[in-house]
Amino acid sequence: MSLTRPLVLAIDGPAASGKGTIAKALARHYGLPHMDTGLLYRAVALSLFRFGGDAASEFEAARAVHEIDKIDLADDELKSEIVGGIASRISAYPAVRAALLEKQRAFAGQDGGAVLDGRDIGTVIAPDARVKLFVTASPEVRAERRLAELFSRGMSAHHDEVLADIRARDERDMGRSVAPLVQAADAMLLDTSEMDVEQAISEALRLVEVALTADA
Ligand code: C5P
Repeated sequence: MSLTRPLVLAIDGPAASGKGTIAKALARHYGLPHMDTGLLYRAVALSLFRFGGDAASEFEAARAVHEIDKIDLADDELKSEIVGGIASRISAYPAVRAALLEKQRAFAGQDGGAVLDGRDIGTVIAPDARVKLFVTASPEVRAERRLAELFSRGMSAHHDEVLADIRARDERDMGRSVAPLVQAADAMLLDTSEMDVEQAISEALRLVEVALTADA
């Protein structure tokens, strides 16, 4: 029965856990389309920032969802700390999450399957996904990775600030009332704290293969 189910991979986890890199590698490996759902929340944030709108207003943030087609998802500004901070705040609004739901569900529901990464893929967007991974790492390791990423893009940042920001985002993501960040009951845990990128990708591939074999 499960052989005919489309291959949907749900990859969730906190900021800078490595989930995006893993999701991209899995999509390449299985020849599946990939959606970084964090980019949608970031696009709403950038839209508020660029075209005006108050991020403290749930109504204005939800209205900005209708402007995100004007944002190029390859725009480098989406990756900035400012935009990430706003995204983390507006993602707690139920109206924003509801307005972004269909786009993500449609992507997850396409015939050939898909890989999506985010915070609530395995719990809300694609609860029937064939494989769910919850990718995590210690806050210290994630702060180091975020710092290295910022430096590589020519931006300056301080370790303590980045670590505080990571902890604040974790708290907001895990503490919100709608679709909080939580490991789905049927998700496999992958802690990448002690792994480099290659190790994390090969462990993710191994876990997916184990799940697919069990599901066959
Ligand atoms: O993953 P990324 O850091 O790009 O996501 C930006 C913000 O969007 C996160 O801080 C998180 O609060 C939010 N987000 C979410 N649900 C998702 C993806 C991202 O709430 N599925």
